[in-house]
Amino acid sequence: MYFILIASLLTIDLLAQSNLRPAQKKFESETIEETINRISAKMKDNKLKYTFINSFPNTLDTTVTNYDPNIPDSFVITGDITAMWLRDSTNQLWTYMEFINKDSKLQNLVKGAISRQVNQVLIDPYANAFNYQKKQSEWSNDNTTRCFLGVNVHAMSQNLHERKFEIDSLVAVLRLSIGYYRETNDTSIINFKYLKAVQRILRTFRDSQADQQEQFKSFRFPYTFQRNGRSTDTVINGIGEPVRRTGLLRTFFRASDDSTIYQFNIPENAMASSILKQTAEMLSEAQLSWSLRTAAQPLIGEALALSQEIKDAIYKYGIKDGAFVYEVDGMGKQVFMDDSNQPSLLSLPIYGFIDIEDPLYQATRKKALSSSNPYYYEGTAAKGIGGPHIGANYIWPMAIVTQGLTTYDKQELRECLRMLVTTTGNKWFMHESFFKDNPDSFTRSWFAWANGLFGELVLKIDKQYPELLEENYI
Ligand SMILES: *[C@@H]1O[C@H](CO)[C@@H](O)[C@H](O)[C@H]1NC(C)=O
Ligand SMILES: *[C@@H]1O[C@H](CO)[C@@H](O)[C@H](O)[C@H]1NC(C)=O
Repeated sequence: MYFILIASLLTIDLLAQSNLRPAQKKFESETIEETINRISAKMKDNKLKYTFINSFPNTLDTTVTNYDPNIPDSFVITGDITAMWLRDSTNQLWTYMEFINKDSKLQNLVKGAISRQVNQVLIDPYANAFNYQKKQSEWSNDNTTRCFLGVNVHAMSQNLHERKFEIDSLVAVLRLSIGYYRETNDTSIINFKYLKAVQRILRTFRDSQADQQEQFKSFRFPYTFQRNGRSTDTVINGIGEPVRRTGLLRTFFRASDDSTIYQFNIPENAMASSILKQTAEMLSEAQLSWSLRTAAQPLIGEALALSQEIKDAIYKYGIKDGAFVYEVDGMGKQVFMDDSNQPSLLSLPIYGFIDIEDPLYQATRKKALSSSNPYYYEGTAAKGIGGPHIGANYIWPMAIVTQGLTTYDKQELRECLRMLVTTTGNKWFMHESFFKDNPDSFTRSWFAWANGLFGELVLKIDKQYPELLEENYI
């Protein structure tokens, strides 16, 4: 009796502290508020309810730090790091993509982010994160160069927060514009500046197909990077472990911002192959003016050819024992692992590279979610994938969301939801990672990408198995 009373007092206390959304929201959308109300009304479990209420709108609530609706121009920070990542900003806004054709304000926000990203690519296609305006970055001492008239010159500029070259940063820019176009049919984003950015991306990808030997012979390293720091933040000799030309693109860093072991990272290439094809399809279908069409035509052909070349190379070099591997060097060395960040092996169907039911994907997925993956952990709180970024025994909620987004199995979805809402450390937000046996030990209390992904998973469950939202999760 007393116990019940105390327990219910505690519950009330918990509820009072559970709506952690700021009173002053950075961006407000009626459509999103309606969606929060509609979906949360179905939820009986408070852990699920409050995690959804806080996480789903987190990007809009807290990270749209600069928005000018007139240009439009949107600057979207990652959360606790106050710079705009190309990858994160695309993913953060992707959460709301299915609503933009019902909400012109939201549509304009995404349009502003596309415009911002296009400018960022044209400033420097090798950078992963940008400042709002010029300022000194904490990484300004990185030794990173670009090729200027055949000479390598220092390339860290005040526009940049960080200059780690990652294939998926550029792919993210294309993906955001495709998502926007598919939802709205609005061709106004496809202007000459946009086509110039597409051209720059294609040229950067072509350059990244050349191996280090070729670049050495031509005295042309388009990009080098060295940091005086931990090994995951730098690459050997500024150019990385030797690889041999295969058609695959070299990425110096992964979606985790950690350096690659071998620069032919399969998930990065798979995502590039899919999105390049979708870029070509969008540019072919869009009703463009004669002059824009003329400018787009060669880019369509180039994007299609590159997409196919990458895909062929993935199937030739990126498979072992009936499953995709994570990284290869084109000379016979292959690494099997999976990292929690998207793009990962687990996330391949999300970009349309392969069907969920494809046996090759299923074999890869099974391996990634097992001890064959050195970054897979099983603990008393959850089981899932982590990565070198935080290290041993820390599971990333993002990987559990990815697992949920790539299954049709109701029981697996239930288990993903359970693991996610019972491991917030009673903070009712997604974290970057948590200790497998104790979720009170976690990293990054404000990580908008992961929050948005959790929202996406709930939206998917609401469409496929809404009854799961009514269950209790212990
Ligand atoms: C976009 O165009 C396609 C093809 O014409 C059409 O099927 C779709 O309904 C349109 N979508 C919107 C949001 O107008
Ligand atoms: C900076 O990187 C370039 C290219 O890797 C290298 O040649 C140069 O020695 C490096 N400078 C310093 C100070 O490390």
